[in-house]
Amino acid sequence: MKATAKAHTNIALIKYWGKRDEQLFLPTNSSLSVTLDKFYTETSVHFSPDFHADRFILNDQQADPKEMEKITTFLDRIRNLSGKSLYATIDSKNYVPTAAGFASSASGFAALAAAATKAIGLDVDYRQLSQIARQGSGSASRSIYGGYVEWQKGEKADGSDCYALPIISEQDWDIRVLSVEVTTKAKKVLSREGMKRTVETSPFYSGWLEAVEKDLITARDAIKEKDFEKLGHVVEANALKMHATTLGANPPFMYWQSATVEVMQEVEELRAAGIEAYFTIDAGPNVKVLCQPKDEHAVRDKLSLLTVVREIHHCRPGPGITYLPIEK
Ligand code: ADP
Ligand code: DP6
Ligand code: CO
Repeated sequence: MKATAKAHTNIALIKYWGKRDEQLFLPTNSSLSVTLDKFYTETSVHFSPDFHADRFILNDQQADPKEMEKITTFLDRIRNLSGKSLYATIDSKNYVPTAAGFASSASGFAALAAAATKAIGLDVDYRQLSQIARQGSGSASRSIYGGYVEWQKGEKADGSDCYALPIISEQDWDIRVLSVEVTTKAKKVLSREGMKRTVETSPFYSGWLEAVEKDLITARDAIKEKDFEKLGHVVEANALKMHATTLGANPPFMYWQSATVEVMQEVEELRAAGIEAYFTIDAGPNVKVLCQPKDEHAVRDKLSLLTVVREIHHCRPGPGITYLPIEK
């Protein structure tokens, strides 16, 4: 009863920001992402009657009780589905900074969903796997697939119509995402807490809801048409709208640092100079810059001149989940 799976992170092009049901991880809006080839998680799960508690080791370190609780709640869902009440030992490695706005929760829970269902012997398709991963972290629902992915919010209260589906594959459209690292320190306000506070207290949240579904249609059309300029514009505008909602929350908060704004301004200058580059930012200070393959080096050269930039990770659209041979 062992399995190992690998899942890649994804960057939201149209953001998931807010839950209508926190227990089931049902979002208030649909979202859209591209899976990235460079950042991923590998997770091994072992269920056994010999174990007397769940164990979770992340990057060779035993998880603290708060993290452990998230994992146990997640495993309980899988135990319920399978009808087997066995404890598990989980060994996970993030090839991505944890909790720093690089979407470790997406690759983390997608890999865990894939490995745990296989280890316990559940026969699930990708749609079901997306629904299971969703209940660990919303963004993980999208990391089941490679390429360009849409997570449909669904209408039903039980979440049965709430899962992600692929739009086009990673081979269908080659764009570049330069992940501009300004810090890998963990964020102060986790995504979960940040979106909850925003939904409950920000007067700007209704404006977000008004705009996001329209942005999503524009982005989906742009992807189908492979219209880079159209996609870039809506992606950047959507990220700005999401971050604006946090400023209206109580207490207010902001994921940006001065370095974040420096990178954003540099992207604007690139565009003024005729290079099509657009930024997006998840819940953290690091910036992801979208460009076309032909402009990748020019964008990198310009951004790497900024002293606040620690590293630039070059990403392409990446694959969905894969299963790996079991480690001895
Ligand atoms: P990020 O920007 O990295 O997604 P979040 O605030 O969304 O940050 O999520 C961070 C949380 O994701 C961690 O506190 C942990 O609960 C979970 N997480 C990260 N990596 C893993 C992993 N490999 N397996 C399971 N859960 C993980
Ligand atoms: C800003 O999926 O990390 O990155 O569902 O509470 O685990 P939980 O949150 P998470 O939120 C991601 C927020 C975002 C936008 C996005 O990825 O769509
Ligand atoms: Co996350």
